[in-house]
Amino acid sequence: MASGWVAEELDEAQVADGESYHRALYHDGDLRRPVGWHRDSVGHLLDLAIPHITDGALVVDYGSGTGGSAIELLRVLDERGISIELILVDPLISWFAKARNLLGHRDDVHFELSISQDESGKTVFRELDEMLAGRKADVIISSSTLHLIPESALGDLANQFAGSLVSGGVFVWDSGDVESGMRPPDAACLHDPYRSVRENLRDDESRQAMLAEMREEDAVRAERRVDRIFPVPFTIDVIVEALTNAGFTSEISSQIVNFSNDDAARFILVPRLAEIAAPLIEGEERSSAIRESVGYVLSQMREAGTASDIGYRSHWLYGLHAIPRLK
Ligand SMILES: C[S@@+](CC[C@H](N)C(=O)[O-])C[C@H]1O[C@@H](n2cnc3c(N)ncnc32)[C@H](O)[C@@H]1O
Repeated sequence: MASGWVAEELDEAQVADGESYHRALYHDGDLRRPVGWHRDSVGHLLDLAIPHITDGALVVDYGSGTGGSAIELLRVLDERGISIELILVDPLISWFAKARNLLGHRDDVHFELSISQDESGKTVFRELDEMLAGRKADVIISSSTLHLIPESALGDLANQFAGSLVSGGVFVWDSGDVESGMRPPDAACLHDPYRSVRENLRDDESRQAMLAEMREEDAVRAERRVDRIFPVPFTIDVIVEALTNAGFTSEISSQIVNFSNDDAARFILVPRLAEIAAPLIEGEERSSAIRESVGYVLSQMREAGTASDIGYRSHWLYGLHAIPRLK
């Protein structure tokens, strides 16, 4: 049985949210059948990380969500007979509870919720060394998460990673939503279609009517919250600079990952992500507005050359960063 954080009484909506994201990663929720984009995107990250993982290693998965990256990592290590201790870290209760539900039977997995309340009741992010209780990791992975960290917080996070690794330890990440000069013209950033859906729905009549009924400051706050779901991507230089300043070496690689039309619709209809259409009422009203909009956006991407009839091409970046070994 896993150790660490356990979710307390989730409501129905939270359970549905975790289940829905899990099913966006695995056909019918079946752990043996990852959807193409999840399998392909995390596959290269594992190719980079696994050579650094030996029997008995302490590994951290920073931004574990519903467990998608951890499940794929453990599958490969189990097949090779490598046993590790894996610490999962995430702030989103609905998704992280699903990870616990999927991996909670394993003795080698530990859960750390990365938010807590300070003395004034404000929600704050916990420091990695506190979550590791002073232990140092051999490898930290972070899959499809760095683009969600505010640019202003990356320097501090890079220092936390450096301070939580053993000498010679590595940090490996991937993201489909970071800009770079490496992206070919026939590929998009991972979240480009969903940012376009957000823009399409911005002036939707029913949505605007609902916003108009709210107090002005509430409407402004609600719109800001929606804009934070798929933030405008920053560039790779920001990540590399933060990691270089923290003492890491850097090797960057990239690949194109195909994202099918069906997977794109399933992804953006995950309740937490479908909030880009808020305050449209959850349920059929919200889903059909999104479905219609994503169909239109994908047709525009086909015209622009970043999508084909079956889906769109997303450009993923991968970083392999080491803390030089002490002499
Ligand atoms: C797209 S999911 C990726 C989950 C998992 N790694 C995978 O490959 O399936 C990104 C995760 O990052 C988490 N996240 C968002 N903001 C974060 C932050 N500021 N610090 C740490 N994690 C964050 C989210 O809660 C979410 O679970």
